[in-house]
Amino acid sequence: MPNIPKILIFDSGVGGLSVFKEIKALLPHLDYTYLFDNKAYPYGELPQSILISRVENLIQRMVQLQSIDLVVIACNTASTIVLPRLRQILTVPVVGVVPAIKPASNLSHKAVGLIATPATIKREYTHHLIHNFSPDKPVELLGSTRLVNMAEDKLCGNPVDINELKQILSPLIDKVDVAVLGCTHFPLLKKEIAEAFDNKVMLVDSGEAIARRVKSLLADVSEKSSVGREQYDIYCSAALGDKAALNYYIDKLGFSPIEPLPFLDA
Ligand code: DGL
Repeated sequence: MPNIPKILIFDSGVGGLSVFKEIKALLPHLDYTYLFDNKAYPYGELPQSILISRVENLIQRMVQLQSIDLVVIACNTASTIVLPRLRQILTVPVVGVVPAIKPASNLSHKAVGLIATPATIKREYTHHLIHNFSPDKPVELLGSTRLVNMAEDKLCGNPVDINELKQILSPLIDKVDVAVLGCTHFPLLKKEIAEAFDNKVMLVDSGEAIARRVKSLLADVSEKSSVGREQYDIYCSAALGDKAALNYYIDKLGFSPIEPLPFLDA
């Protein structure tokens, strides 16, 4: 059997699964490992220096341990500050997820909303994106950790409260015609977010573009001739409470049950 590239997908929580789904749809025959740093979740509330050192440590060790071929930082909050450092210390390609400001601005006729974590909307990187790629459309910023928690709760089997969602999104309602889902957790709430906007706002995320980028970096991989693993690994950095609903969800995506990180001190 030919060598199947192994892709590491990383986030603070379940958000990166939205990116995994897009990559797997385009590249179904690769091998995947998912790692989430729930010990330090939510990243949107974490001091930058701690975030950078955690991501660096976790990724470097997992890349070594599993002979990873390509890393996807499926987290806007992390990607907007850790990519230069990761690319410095790793020899494998690192793909980051950052808010899709450019396509959103091109689609908008009025104003763009950026829905992200409180950290992402403050990042210099984000403000450069806005400055460079939305020169003629105003970008309204909305940072919310509660929305991130709502996505985690949904995948743990809890219902989403549309009225609460409407209240969180109220600063953008009637103001923007396009909204960027600038946190990988939010595509997991896409249907509910669309409903909260009365289906009047176009929602844009980076998932498909990331999948295309991964594919282009693995251009020499023949998808048809290789067969991927039947079950993928998924690791967390802290013990999870009730895992049943989440394990049920990830089983449908092709993962085996969630395991604690193989390095104990992380
Ligand atoms: N999923 C992450 C992002 O794209 C971060 C969520 C969090 O831990 O605050 O930004």
